[in-house]
Amino acid sequence: EKEGFEHFMLKEIYEQPKAVADTISPRIKNGKIVIDELEMTDEDIKKVSRIQMVACGSAYHVCVCAKYVLEKLAKIPVDVDLASEFRYRNPLMAKDTLVIVVSQSGETADSLAALRESKKKGYKVLGIVNVVGSSIAREADSVFYTWAGPEISVATTKAYSTQLAAVYLIGLLFGKVRGTIKDKEYREYIHELGRLPEKIQKILDEKERIQWLANKYSHTKDVFFIGRGLDYAISLEGSLKLKEISYIHSEAYAAGELKHGTISLIEEGVLVVGAATQPDLFEKEVSNLVEVRSRGACVLGLTSYGNYSIEDIADFTVYVPKTQDVFTTSLAVVPLQLLAYYISVAKGLDVDKPRNLAKSVTVE
Ligand code: M6R
Repeated sequence: EKEGFEHFMLKEIYEQPKAVADTISPRIKNGKIVIDELEMTDEDIKKVSRIQMVACGSAYHVCVCAKYVLEKLAKIPVDVDLASEFRYRNPLMAKDTLVIVVSQSGETADSLAALRESKKKGYKVLGIVNVVGSSIAREADSVFYTWAGPEISVATTKAYSTQLAAVYLIGLLFGKVRGTIKDKEYREYIHELGRLPEKIQKILDEKERIQWLANKYSHTKDVFFIGRGLDYAISLEGSLKLKEISYIHSEAYAAGELKHGTISLIEEGVLVVGAATQPDLFEKEVSNLVEVRSRGACVLGLTSYGNYSIEDIADFTVYVPKTQDVFTTSLAVVPLQLLAYYISVAKGLDVDKPRNLAKSVTVE
């Protein structure tokens, strides 16, 4: 079943171009985004006052991205909660809040409980789910299926990428209906969405460099992932991927938070992965990288082609193709998945079944 790949995780990383294309293409008709399964009229979409996103683990990291993406595209305020927190804090939600629960398995206990809590309070719940007919898919008012196909590896990769694609589609649809995206921009976004699979493929084709970096850093004890805005969201995911399958201690920080405590942990030999794909925040991120480097950290820069000035400060740099700023997460996550994967392989660990973890967390 691994189709020649050494592990399911690598197979699933390689399936991402197709999974993303399969999630996007059925929802684009005649140059327009159509998501019938939302079961929302234009009036319903216009009425949404806030969006409440809830999930666990990597799906939660998709929600963190979604806050930036949906607020930018559709100009709707987005709140993001961990399902395990949301379910017990008796959340106060504005009238006409749309609740979106994100889950690959559709069986995560806390996410399901969050869904039930929201429905009990009378809110409409949209599920972004991968497994057809799963509990969350059955109980949500409407379901957006991510067509990633079965995901076996405990560490999610292709499901995460298709969840992001779902968020882009929903953001563009809402933005168009609510008039927050101009026609020209809308066309450009749709064109660029269609190009994401080939750009992901290009990163996969350049995997040797990541493999080399992974071998070089497989003995590292501490890794910090830092970024701002969407680069912070991607840092959360990069850090989780690394810790779950390589057992290396890692943390993700909003780069601007470093000075509020974490920078005291930076010393000679610590690896800092600095994500800097967002043009408006690039200089700010670079200045944080200067600060950690001057304290002895080894800096791995992650940015888009063209931002070559990062080489003045980074020890190594990984470039991803350019795309719309809001879509970069889909590209920047791929080198981070590969980094975690190859470090786990270099350490001889059980990549697909890391210790203490289950694919689906059906108990709280
Ligand atoms: O099935 P779900 O998407 O609801 O699962 C949520 C998390 O358990 C999951 O993303 C977990 O964090 C992964 N192991 C991350 O790779």
